[in-house]
Amino acid sequence: MDPRRLARKAVLGLERPVHGGLGWKYEGIEDFSSNLNPYGPPEEMSGFISEAASKLAHYPDDSSEEFRSAICEHHDVDMANVIAGAGSAELIRLFPETFLEAGDMVLMPRPTFSEYAFGCRLQGATVVEMPLEEENDLRLDIGKVIENIGGCKAVYLCNPNNPTGNIVPRKEVLELVRECERASVLMFLDETLLELVKGSKDISCVKEVDSFSNLFVIRSLTKCFAMPGMRIGYGVGGRDIVKLMSSARLSWNLGKIEQHVGARLLRDCQGHVAKAADMMASEGTRMSREIARTGVVEARVPDSFFFFSRCNGMKGSDVQGEMLERKVLVRDCASFGAPFDSYVRFAVKTPERNDMLISAFRSLAEARGRD
Ligand SMILES: Cc1ncc(COP(=O)(O)O)c(C=O)c1O
Repeated sequence: MDPRRLARKAVLGLERPVHGGLGWKYEGIEDFSSNLNPYGPPEEMSGFISEAASKLAHYPDDSSEEFRSAICEHHDVDMANVIAGAGSAELIRLFPETFLEAGDMVLMPRPTFSEYAFGCRLQGATVVEMPLEEENDLRLDIGKVIENIGGCKAVYLCNPNNPTGNIVPRKEVLELVRECERASVLMFLDETLLELVKGSKDISCVKEVDSFSNLFVIRSLTKCFAMPGMRIGYGVGGRDIVKLMSSARLSWNLGKIEQHVGARLLRDCQGHVAKAADMMASEGTRMSREIARTGVVEARVPDSFFFFSRCNGMKGSDVQGEMLERKVLVRDCASFGAPFDSYVRFAVKTPERNDMLISAFRSLAEARGRD
């Protein structure tokens, strides 16, 4: 028999999303392809893991209460607003599983994080893309999004956006949420990259979830505590949204270690995140100046802590290959489709490591000058 004849139509022809963060594949290189806290995980981390390691003989608390209480304290929201996820990736999948079916339409900018479209298409939904324009520095025109929400069930917004790094100010995000609510459209807001941005509290919409019926915000511990190897994320949203998603989610989605580590990190290690955000803000400005001077890529000061840079006269894959020879990994952005095959993305790290990246760009510029 041919199992393909039994598969759901939406599964046939699906392509898996492509991601950066492939540093583990290479020996002895500096990985700028993923956007993580450059100080690494807090030093208390292994202690937190040990505290929970003796408790693995029981199933974990299915409601993740310890972790969710810490989230409530951190954001000053109610338990009814909070759902835990095995990484925010689980919630990116659960949202369309809860709300979308074949024939539904969703609206999202392009380029943006590939998992949203993947999760929606898996449910048979149609993804309508709003192209971000190079003439507008790839910034989202909220007015245009509002013009296009009619007929959609959900709008996706990533703030800061992966891969562009651009930030939409809170006032504009809330205007979009309000217009979506009027039109009975759900708003999926990804703030997983926000905590590492200096001044993020003035941009976040987490505290607004009870003011609207249609807002769902995802957050993650992956980026701010540099721990992609553990899957810990969460969502904060309107109570009815959270209730519906909780009823559909996987049982025991977070293990005992993840629940405990997540709670301890949120309660005790916020200084670690703030220190990185401050340092990266000033490093971003310095890097922009030094890298732009080499002429290999464009490098305007980023809104956030990573660069999305157009390569001058080269494809992103060529720049990636040349930089790898210089022991530095940047992300080739070809997976976002044309014209982004001429872009690379790279993170801001500590000053010493940023110097390695700058030197690699200089060396590439010199080599090109000799050709
Ligand atoms: C914008 C964005 N959202 C969500 C995720 C998922 O992260 P996690 O599942 O580790 O929370 C990523 C990972 O790269 C991301 O870049």
